[in-house]
Amino acid sequence: MLKNEKTFTTAADFMLHGGDYNPDQWLDHPEILQEDLKLMKLSNSNTFSLGIFAWSTLEPQEGDYHFEWLDKIIDNIHSIGGRVILATPSGARPSWMSQKYPEVLRVDGARVKQLHGGRHNHCFTSPVYREKTAQMNRLLAERYGKHPALLMWHISNEYGGECHCERCQDAFRNWLRDKYKENLKALNDSWWGPFWSHTFSDWSQIESPSPIGENMVHGLNLDWKRFVTDQTISFFENEVTAIRELTPEIPITTNFMADTHDLIPFQSLDYSKFAKHLDVISWDAYPAWHNDWETTANLAMKVGFINDLYRSLKQQPFLLMESTPSAVNWHKINKAKRPGMHLLSSMQMVAHGSDSILYFQWRKSRGSSEKFHGAVVDHDNSVDNRVFKEVSTVGETLEKLSQVVGTNRPADVAILYDWESNWALNHAQGYGTETKCYPQTLQEHYRTFWEQDIPVDVITKEQEFSRYKLLIVPMLYLASEETIARLKQFTAEGGTLVMTYISGIVNEHDLTYLGGWHQDLQAVFGINPVETDTLYPGDRNSVQYSNRSYELTDYATVIETHSAAVDGIYEADFYAGSPAMTKNSYGKGRAYYIGARLEEQFNRDFYQELITDLSLQSVLPIEHGPGVSVQVRQDGDVNYAFVMNFTEQEQTVSIHVVAKDLMTGEELSGELLLAKYEVRILAVK
Ligand code: GAL
Repeated sequence: MLKNEKTFTTAADFMLHGGDYNPDQWLDHPEILQEDLKLMKLSNSNTFSLGIFAWSTLEPQEGDYHFEWLDKIIDNIHSIGGRVILATPSGARPSWMSQKYPEVLRVDGARVKQLHGGRHNHCFTSPVYREKTAQMNRLLAERYGKHPALLMWHISNEYGGECHCERCQDAFRNWLRDKYKENLKALNDSWWGPFWSHTFSDWSQIESPSPIGENMVHGLNLDWKRFVTDQTISFFENEVTAIRELTPEIPITTNFMADTHDLIPFQSLDYSKFAKHLDVISWDAYPAWHNDWETTANLAMKVGFINDLYRSLKQQPFLLMESTPSAVNWHKINKAKRPGMHLLSSMQMVAHGSDSILYFQWRKSRGSSEKFHGAVVDHDNSVDNRVFKEVSTVGETLEKLSQVVGTNRPADVAILYDWESNWALNHAQGYGTETKCYPQTLQEHYRTFWEQDIPVDVITKEQEFSRYKLLIVPMLYLASEETIARLKQFTAEGGTLVMTYISGIVNEHDLTYLGGWHQDLQAVFGINPVETDTLYPGDRNSVQYSNRSYELTDYATVIETHSAAVDGIYEADFYAGSPAMTKNSYGKGRAYYIGARLEEQFNRDFYQELITDLSLQSVLPIEHGPGVSVQVRQDGDVNYAFVMNFTEQEQTVSIHVVAKDLMTGEELSGELLLAKYEVRILAVK
């Protein structure tokens, strides 16, 4: 793909606005469904995700199908010019199915079979569940595949979790036989079998990890995680067979998630693998705005990071599939979004590559666990409701942004995120149990670029490296020979590589490299990290770098240098005076090694030097103070700049170009005053 080429993720040339609409909860209230059509227009909504949890309405008894209500809803939405994202209902089963076919129920790690209830809790191996979803999905595709309102497929909902039933055990063993090519010795070797007498003499002895059984064989743990991702994808593939066959032109997505408190990428599934099976990435974002443990700007930085990861999975725009217009119902404290925050937080998603703002949910439920979750239409049904008005404003804004649809965010800087490495690191019994913090560490390395509005792709290991000037690889604990070879090639060909402590420790089987650090890494970095010290929270040490002392926490690597120049020195402990940071020329490129976890300001100062050296820049010359973010989407010669104030104070921004405000049409240049939480959207040629 050319850097500035537009990619339409949905075939729609407008920004999607709307969200999960659950009319199946309101079928006994035709007046409300009728009223909704009016409110859809008034809220400037144009797209509705339907049928996500509607299985018990679509098929109340086995084989007794009821699509007439859905026909009507889709036709009604079409009649007002709306579009539909149609879901397959596999996120929640009807109870008749669990009752008649208990095999669909999940078994947990402790081998306890779960009862019917909740959602997102099926056995992904169950032949019955696969057959039932395939049947249902075929019917949906046959019935609605040609409907002019159909925009996309929303497959299931937030796939996640794992099942440990006997069928899954068999599937796992088959997966292993396939992976290790029927060679049990190869598996035992990879899993370091003789340790604690863990050598298997037959495939049937292998069991998934369990809190009441095996959980210390790291090779097993890692392969199980990989299997869970593959088995989930295999279930997904089964879901989409008929859909692909009958509606090849309709894009397919499934909604990804984040892990919430720190707003880090979802941990349990390797989305880099899943992404290859989707036409469009979409995800559900629920940041806890206005929380009491961080600044608004800090949270905005994390939102930026995860968006740049999910966007980079396919190097194309993505969709915000769910968000809340105000509070959620499942944070510890469910705080309302303050006035202005809804527009600001929505525009931040668009700024980082989303071609939609969609909500959970469009009309608030009357009963059950989500009756207090924020929604476009509240129980009061009122258009004078503050939240409703703010939603309408977002819709109005999106209507003026259709030229932004399909545009991307070219970047010269990449940060490498790896699910497998994170799993392996978390399994590792060593280092600090509470302080590994892989995703959070990556956020810290992203921070400086976010603060300076320099675009970053957060990429995964199989993606192309050579398109970037700077590749940052923090804490890549697990690095295969192949990844190491690719990092070496990137540097040899002129790239600038940054790596940190706890990188390149184990291979893809979670076996440590022998004979010191991998020879290729030693060559590229000109060092051999010989020891990693883990610090208590009360321990104090620091690194002298560029005539300044920076505090270090958690990890410090003792480094033996070969060809590398020393850039930073430890100031205390038994390694005082020894190298903490190094720089090496390798081929046409350079490789930096950061041996310790250093305070925030260090990353700023260190990356500032690289920013200057490599002439990395923000896309537009717009200056501002901390807490303001300017993120740009590019379309050929036009830049769309989202100038966002993530602080509680007024901010002055200096615009050193002539820009056009896309909302008001006015030309702007020079100083611009942004109110608290204000966002301005500018086009710059
Ligand atoms: C999502 C889920 C939605 C809804 C929402 C509430 O995780 O997909 O169905 O429950 O959370 O925030």
